[in-house]
Amino acid sequence: MAGLWNKIKQTNIYKSIYRNDYPTTPRNQVLVILNSVALHLHPVKIPKSGVKVTYTWGLGGTSLLMFLLLTVTGVILMFYYIPSTAMGQAYFSVKNLETGPLFGMYMRNLHRWTAHGMVLIVFLHMCRVFYTGSYKRPREFNWALGVVLLTVTFLLSFTGYLLPWDQLAFWAITVGTNMAGATPPREIVGKYVRFALLGGFEIGQATLIRWYTLHVIFLPLAAIVLMAVHFWRVRKDGGISTPIHEEDDNA
Ligand code: HEM
Repeated sequence: MAGLWNKIKQTNIYKSIYRNDYPTTPRNQVLVILNSVALHLHPVKIPKSGVKVTYTWGLGGTSLLMFLLLTVTGVILMFYYIPSTAMGQAYFSVKNLETGPLFGMYMRNLHRWTAHGMVLIVFLHMCRVFYTGSYKRPREFNWALGVVLLTVTFLLSFTGYLLPWDQLAFWAITVGTNMAGATPPREIVGKYVRFALLGGFEIGQATLIRWYTLHVIFLPLAAIVLMAVHFWRVRKDGGISTPIHEEDDNA
């Protein structure tokens, strides 16, 4: 068996896929990480504190996991959702999920609860970063990027709120856009912001299609680009920060 396996490892096909031997030596361990598209996203070496659960609480990674789950469930929901106000199509396409498609209600609830969860987890991640002082030099820029990510997370949540086109959605968006309309100076900024958000003077089809496009295309794409830069910056800023006291690192 071992002989056959050694022969397979000598074939060109095997060598074209796996360029290194088993990671039994430190050199091979490094090469395996560097030569794998999935693994190379992680650094080859990290400080011991970086894997300590009670330092990061895995909150940044959990935020990403939630975003991925929202993307998968969101795409599934898109197969059924109709962004049209005519004859309450948007409302009924969401309501029908509960009785029609197999696992429709499960997908809707998974999407909704994960959205609430993501807002909470991203906020807690921000608190962790603040609490451990990880926003300080050289990570100021990544903190600023995080603030934009937090805003995008809020906007994703808010734009999704209108889509079921029920009373809750309608009046929440009425309140939200009226608040945006009060941005001073009202006649120069507020008025136009409200008009742009509504696609007119009142909530209607133009609002729904705008918010739908923002929710399923623009904001997720913005989040993906920002997250890519955020993760890249974590690496470039020297990896996850270490605790201030050396002894904490070894605890
Ligand atoms: C969609 C939202 C976000 C995602 C997916 C995300 C993801 C991550 C991940 C995976 C890390 C690596 C360490 C860890 O897991 O804690 C990290 C680190 C970091 N994040 Fe976020 N983050 C998000 C939002 C934010 C926000 C809102 C802030 C602050 C306003 C922020 C600031 C930072 C900083 C400064 C670091 C470096 C921390 C260190 O080196 O200890 N991030 N982020």
